[in-house]
Amino acid sequence: MSTDGSLIAVYPGSFDPITNGHLDIIKRGARLASHLIVAVLNNTSKQPLFTLEERKAMLREAVAGIDNVEIDSFDGLLVDYAAKREAKAILRGIRAISDYETEMQMAHLNRHMRPETETIFLLAAEKYSFISSRMIKEVIKLGGDVSQFVPAAVAAHLRFNR
Ligand code: PNS
Repeated sequence: MSTDGSLIAVYPGSFDPITNGHLDIIKRGARLASHLIVAVLNNTSKQPLFTLEERKAMLREAVAGIDNVEIDSFDGLLVDYAAKREAKAILRGIRAISDYETEMQMAHLNRHMRPETETIFLLAAEKYSFISSRMIKEVIKLGGDVSQFVPAAVAAHLRFNR
């Protein structure tokens, strides 16, 4: 937090696709930060199901109406992106103890590389704690209905494009 009380935070992820769990973290994060940047990793080595533009478009639609949330994308190191955007915090959601180990490693690594950036964790709401993009993708690929697990923007995208 700055001396004037403002806080720019980055919520990074693959968002392939955004889930209701992500959206919950975004809404709660937007109440803590004065400006929340949802930053989609443009990772060419991972094979995403949705293109970067599709992921950003679905995010934009899902967060429409939340004034202090911006959708952006980044390449390279997260801490470099955070520095460029003058973000003092990285926001991450934790669903279960199984997330903790990786998240702890990432947070330590990021803090060693850029001590000025703190990682803030929010516990995922219980009702979303079983939802992951990885499993949603599997259900989509196998032809299942994921509409109860994802924002309407994703369900609509799937109806029109798949
Ligand atoms: O939604 P995800 O896939 O769990 O998000 C992972 C993400 C994007 C936060 C992480 O892979 C990341 O920060 N990648 C950028 C590269 C980087 O900075 N790596 C070092 C810290 S892990």
